[in-house]
Amino acid sequence: MNQFSLKDKTILITGASSGIGRSCSVECSRSGASLILVARNEDELQKTVSMLNPDTKAETIIADITTAENLEELIAEKVAVLGKISGFIHCAGIEKTLPLKKHTPQLYNDIFAVNVISGFEIAKILSLKKYKTETSSFVFISSVAGMVGEIGKAAYSASKGAVVSGARSLAMELSRSGIRVNSVSPAMVNTPILEKMFENIGEEAAEEILKKHPLGIGQPEDVANACIFLLSDGAKWITGSNLVVDGGYSAH
Ligand SMILES: NC(=O)c1ccc[n+]([C@@H]2O[C@H](COP(=O)([O-])OP(=O)(O)OC[C@H]3O[C@@H](n4cnc5c(N)ncnc54)[C@H](OP(=O)(O)O)[C@@H]3O)[C@@H](O)[C@H]2O)c1
Repeated sequence: MNQFSLKDKTILITGASSGIGRSCSVECSRSGASLILVARNEDELQKTVSMLNPDTKAETIIADITTAENLEELIAEKVAVLGKISGFIHCAGIEKTLPLKKHTPQLYNDIFAVNVISGFEIAKILSLKKYKTETSSFVFISSVAGMVGEIGKAAYSASKGAVVSGARSLAMELSRSGIRVNSVSPAMVNTPILEKMFENIGEEAAEEILKKHPLGIGQPEDVANACIFLLSDGAKWITGSNLVVDGGYSAH
């Protein structure tokens, strides 16, 4: 038996329309999982579906996870189709690099709403007995910015630190329900979020960041593979951890 297979597991993935979430979707489907994919952009979400292993059973939820009031209902509908959920990757996230003088309470609110609160609210739904299999695994995508200081990232870094510490507390609370909870902290990964950031900070600063990655910039599948490990039974004794996937960035 392959301990790292996701066969017979249904995984819910937020942020599945782009970047790391799309790659998590593709790699989870290759590992045998059925999928519930969540994002706002229907066309991009359909593009992800078209990239999955052709045998994969996949359902989509088109929703803004910060405002949708009927998320539980939508999830319940998908559970009725695919069966109970054994795993969750919270990959939806927004990033803003701005000098402190441009940080506003609204900016903190917007970033925390997607990166932190929505993820923990979905975890609340998925921890209910009626939606979960006997054992389950939740993975929250944080960032090295939650551990290492970076200029212009006060709000983003704070949100990613909150993801790691909140996930640790969830790990304590949910262990008795058979749910493992971990976070994954990537450094720079080649996705649209990174392209946008590089446009904002300019070429020189981008060059400096590149130099700090001994193994170079990561690819989305490098993060997806770490998530698959944490979702699989091969990680059945791992909870409350933060897996750093950063090409050596934070080893400096
Ligand atoms: N790329 C990196 O270098 C890097 C490094 C460290 C950590 N991370 C983290 O990894 C995660 C994924 O990043 P990425 O690079 O893949 O970003 P991305 O390509 O910009 O994708 C972000 C995803 O989040 C979804 N999303 C954003 N706001 C949403 C909302 N209100 N409701 C529902 N979905 C929403 C987007 O979907 P829609 O627009 O379709 O809604 C999209 O699928 C983020 O948490 C990010 O902070 C990324």
